[in-house]
Amino acid sequence: MTKRKILITSALPYANGPTHLGHLLEYIQTDIWSRYQKLREHETYYVCADDAHGTPIMLNAQKQGITPEEMVKNVSIERQRDFADFNIEFDNYHSTHSDENRELSELIYNRLNEKGHIKKRTISQLFDPEKNIFLPDRFVTGTCPTCKSEDQNGDSCDACGATYSPTELIEPRSAMSGATPVLKDSEHYFFDLPAFEDMLKSWLRSGSIQSEMANKLDEWFADGLQQWDISRDAPYFGFEIPGAPGKYFYVWLDAPIGYMASFKNLCEKQGLNFDEFWAEGSEAELYHFIGKDIIYFHSLFWPAMLDGANFRKPNNVFAHGFVTVNGAKMSKSKGTFIKARTYLEHLDPEYLRYYYAAKLNSGITDLDLNLDDFAQRVNADLVGKVVNIASRCAGFITKKFDGKLSDSVMDEALLNSFSEAQQIIAEHFENREYSRAVREIMALADKANQFIDAEAPWVLAKSDETLERAHQVCSMGLNLFRVLMTYLKPILPGMAKNVESFLNTELKWSSVAVPLVGHEINKFKALMQRVEPEKVTAMVDASKESLESKVATKQTKTDENSPLSKEPIAAEIEFDDFAKVDLRVAQIANAEHVDGADKLLKLTLDLGGETRQVFAGIKSAYAPEDLIGKLTVMVANLKPRKMRFGMSEGMVLAAGPGGKEIYILNPHDGAKPGMRVM
Ligand code: MSP
Ligand code: ZN
Repeated sequence: MTKRKILITSALPYANGPTHLGHLLEYIQTDIWSRYQKLREHETYYVCADDAHGTPIMLNAQKQGITPEEMVKNVSIERQRDFADFNIEFDNYHSTHSDENRELSELIYNRLNEKGHIKKRTISQLFDPEKNIFLPDRFVTGTCPTCKSEDQNGDSCDACGATYSPTELIEPRSAMSGATPVLKDSEHYFFDLPAFEDMLKSWLRSGSIQSEMANKLDEWFADGLQQWDISRDAPYFGFEIPGAPGKYFYVWLDAPIGYMASFKNLCEKQGLNFDEFWAEGSEAELYHFIGKDIIYFHSLFWPAMLDGANFRKPNNVFAHGFVTVNGAKMSKSKGTFIKARTYLEHLDPEYLRYYYAAKLNSGITDLDLNLDDFAQRVNADLVGKVVNIASRCAGFITKKFDGKLSDSVMDEALLNSFSEAQQIIAEHFENREYSRAVREIMALADKANQFIDAEAPWVLAKSDETLERAHQVCSMGLNLFRVLMTYLKPILPGMAKNVESFLNTELKWSSVAVPLVGHEINKFKALMQRVEPEKVTAMVDASKESLESKVATKQTKTDENSPLSKEPIAAEIEFDDFAKVDLRVAQIANAEHVDGADKLLKLTLDLGGETRQVFAGIKSAYAPEDLIGKLTVMVANLKPRKMRFGMSEGMVLAAGPGGKEIYILNPHDGAKPGMRVM
């Protein structure tokens, strides 16, 4: 077999907010593929990076009172810890806010510009006159021009699904300040995508792209390709465009270049040859794993940019669907918006890797993480079938045979049937049909268990006459187990590692057909615990929006009919969890009605030097003038939230079922604004 050179990427996660189980589908899918290629001993590199730029990250950092660089660094540390704890093994993890990326972005832009692929045009855009900033689509809200639903986003309507430009909204408002945006002219830079139509069509025909993707692309071609706006005006967190002071690359221009930048950084560390992978005509293979929401960027803009700048294009772009939990979109109130960290506090990462693999195929359909099915499937397959083989055989080998496997193989035909399955399992991995690979492997596990059941080594081991047969059976069982674990190694790297020390051998794809005979093994240790349903429940509880935040969100939406007192007490937490909530005494410096809001008051809170704007759903119980001057308690480190009337920068604590019965917490006089509440 010839050794391939393969470069693999996953989409670069925004350095804005925590990793969740939706993201993990992608990184697990890619990691399995990368580990599989490595197991086949191909020269494989898997790189990723933080996507650091753009307006949301800039604003988020501002809210936290830190620089975007600092925020990106903080998020990156947590992100990489999450990935490592899920056994996702990157060869390099870099950032789009890096020297390599700046250089490559400038290089690509300059090449495109020299060839006339960059056009300039003045456009008119919504501008926030209070904050002095052009408003990205998602920072404008207003009434849908099609169905007249209020409070819709700047790019599309949740009610009727219409898409439009934010300038078409009726009564638009800035989500940053609440101000009415004005139209303002500015010169923008455009990438001439339509010039690449023929090239793109032939590129797409050259690889075997997913059929769903081919259909989408046909639609886009039929609609006609548009020039792509690649510039943004200051203030913007990104790279300034060469020769255009005050203009920055739009985040999506330099984001995919981040794939190259991360690889370049790896080349610097390991002395690899960058051009071998990226120069036009490169023989190395390049694959991007992405979610279905970012196909446009990866199958149109990105190959066109590469082509226009004389770099090689990807061999393929593999899109996957979205994760739903229990059949619905992940939801904070249901506790199904589960962060990677929350999962890890309750469950073994290998469970999730297995479950995703067992359901993944090469298509773009969504994948449902049904939590009951998850527990049941992992327990039945991994614990009940795979680990069961080893746990039934290992004890005898250790206790009765000095930890040594028999000198011959008892059932060659059975072992051969295991190693012959290698071919088809390999094809399934290669084609990203992991669910099929898992099905094959589990069918083999059934066969192994049937063999052990039929021989019943626990009976054989009881009498001296049949003791040697028990040795043969258990050795056979462990050899079958070894083959299964080799096949599962890309999916379950953590467990495979423990099996390697137990079997005292490396699990290698190339030695599947060579059994262990007369081989010494180590003492068996439990390889995997059963999934306990209580832990799944605890994870969901821990993911539910806190009681406090329900006061603000629920009461603005629903009626006064569900007394909070009926809320069950939430799952027990550690002191450290509590200490993460920074509660402060705040003085209500101002309170006012919000135009168009029937439940909210806008509060200005004085934290002793710092002021915050908070929208609280307490209008049914308080008149603004009753509140001004009062002390209360707020959550001061709650991540700011964009509400329809502007940013809410914290939360006021209140109790009660709702309606007239809402009571804000009110510390005794003497407490000073800014004091920490513990
Ligand atoms: N920063 C861009 C990607 C730039 S690539 C040059 C981005 N970031 S993201 O953080 O929003 O998403 C990262 C990846 O996770 C994307 O491929 C996205 O499709 C995927 N997913 C995010 N939520 C997901 C689910 N709920 N389910 C499955 N994948 C999901 O997009
Ligand atoms: Zn609408």
